[in-house]
Amino acid sequence: MISGYVRRAGLVDVLGAFGRTNVQGEEQQKLDVIANDTMIQSIAYTGRVCVMASEEDAEPFPIPEEHNPGKYVLLHDPLDGSSNIDVNVSIGTIFSIHQRVTESGPGTLEDCLQKGRGQIAAGYVIHGSSTVLVYTVGRGVHAFTLDPTIGEFLLVNPDIKTPEIGKYYSINESYYQRWSDGYRRVVQEFKGVESTEHRKNARYIGSLVADFHRNLLSGGVFMYPADSKAPHGKLRLLYEASPLAFIAEQAGGAASDGVTPILDIQPTELHQRTPLLIGSRGDVAFVERTVAEVDSVAAK
Ligand code: AHG
Ligand code: MN
Ligand code: MN
Repeated sequence: MISGYVRRAGLVDVLGAFGRTNVQGEEQQKLDVIANDTMIQSIAYTGRVCVMASEEDAEPFPIPEEHNPGKYVLLHDPLDGSSNIDVNVSIGTIFSIHQRVTESGPGTLEDCLQKGRGQIAAGYVIHGSSTVLVYTVGRGVHAFTLDPTIGEFLLVNPDIKTPEIGKYYSINESYYQRWSDGYRRVVQEFKGVESTEHRKNARYIGSLVADFHRNLLSGGVFMYPADSKAPHGKLRLLYEASPLAFIAEQAGGAASDGVTPILDIQPTELHQRTPLLIGSRGDVAFVERTVAEVDSVAAK
């Protein structure tokens, strides 16, 4: 349904700003709201979930008693990469599923604030040159491509394993002035300034889901560090970092906030942000090591 809107953007009235600012302080795009409404309408009344929480809504949405609240919790970013909608660049939906912790009835914030390690399932749908669903239920990572001629997702890439060392590094280099010395050093290494030992190609799309998907398949590391203006980084733990971290680990990769594995962070707020370092395991380890080395020296 969301793919249908995305692929007709401009023909149907889904482009541009919606005219409201969301809880993130970001101007909502029409497609953000359409995707969010579509997720709620499609899932809230299935009897499968007891509560839903979205990047676009300040509070969780407890499923009312009359709609038979189910045993699962759905956290989602209904449309990731909103700045790219109007310029036809890949965007997507990211979702994270937990088992409820409260006994019964409408779910609560407590059901939403669970460590990523406890996820039952996680995935995303990316609207690129094709529409691809990637998901894991803890038994590997599998990718399906939507065949629009039959309206079905077909399995094209079972049991994805991400390379140990990747081809790409992804970071918004316009924030160079705000980074710690450690991240400046990492990017110098990836640029091959002194030695070509860790040199990588640069790719940054500005849609996390697209940058993540490319790096998952080709190998690489995505970095959105904390910086002097954003002490907790920009990306949100519950419905961006945590689901993608589950997928990364299931594919043999890694994800941390630079120090702690994303899946081991205990959330305290629904929209809390976290620095994110995610992708090929060897690359993540290199970045963690280099940043720790350089920044600990700088700290002394
Ligand atoms: P969203 O559109 O859901 O708010 O997410 C946008 C995020 C993420 O998709 C992307 O990696 C990041 O914003 C880009 O941020 P910068 O423009 O600061 O690099
Ligand atoms: Mn997002
Ligand atoms: Mn979003």
